[in-house]
Amino acid sequence: TDRYCVFGNPIAHSKSPDIHAAFAAQTGQALTYERRLAPIDGFAAAVHAFIAEGGKGANVTVPFKLEAFRLANALTVRAQAAGAVNTLLFDGHGITGDNTDGAGLVNDITVNAGVPIAGRRVLLLGAGGAARGAVLPILEHRPATLVIANRTLATAEALAQQFAQLGGAGAGSCRIAACGFAAIEGEFDIVINATSASLQAELPPIPTSVFHPGTLALDMMYGKEPTVFLQFAASHGAATRDGLGMLVEQAAEAFHGWRGVRPETAAVLQQFRT
Ligand code: ATR
Repeated sequence: TDRYCVFGNPIAHSKSPDIHAAFAAQTGQALTYERRLAPIDGFAAAVHAFIAEGGKGANVTVPFKLEAFRLANALTVRAQAAGAVNTLLFDGHGITGDNTDGAGLVNDITVNAGVPIAGRRVLLLGAGGAARGAVLPILEHRPATLVIANRTLATAEALAQQFAQLGGAGAGSCRIAACGFAAIEGEFDIVINATSASLQAELPPIPTSVFHPGTLALDMMYGKEPTVFLQFAASHGAATRDGLGMLVEQAAEAFHGWRGVRPETAAVLQQFRT
């Protein structure tokens, strides 16, 4: 039986083992998937120990995604673009780092929520690790515009610049812009909160004019109650979506990478909603 795990600190509340157990049951794959608490200063040692025990792959969560990026000796294109790794594959090539977070996000938007990104105006709030992972997968769907807004303007500008230079295949004809929250102009079809503000029950101070009745507002965070951002978006007429769908979709993308089989996420997402 092949072994997988998720590394994090803390890790006790991770839903990943339950999600992967559901995928394994559904697809008839024989595997185990466990939680591993890695010491803050012992991530690499924990990974090597798991490999020595026969581990085939792992997910990586807070605070180790940057360290996983550095640890991998090969990186997928999307992991390079994200500058962070949430999925590791251990095989004869060593440690390969992937990032499935952004693909999970766009699958959740386009498939689960049924909202196309192509040709739409997309607003991405935040320019940290979570936002960085989302940019390339969003651009691959060819939005009309991607505006990256952040509390610290320089970080948003650097992120927009990184992908503006990409040009051609990735960026296509999409206009990428960066600004501070107060300077956001116009309405958006999709507004994604990739800041960590929701963790402190804070709201990025964005103009309410970004929302129109057809807007989809998505928060990468999730909890028992809607985040302050989703409450704010709903009160201005947007449809809302928390980060649970993205979590299940990034897991499905990792599972596919490891096993070559794509699980059906709808039933699993439904199971975790209740
Ligand atoms: P993550 O991995 O969750 O993206 P991160 O890389 O530390 O974490 O990035 C956190 C993001 O949330 C940043 O964009 C940060 O803004 P700054 O670049 O200005 O620091 C944003 N953020 C955190 N707390 C926030 C708050 N209270 N209001 C608005 N933005 C916030």
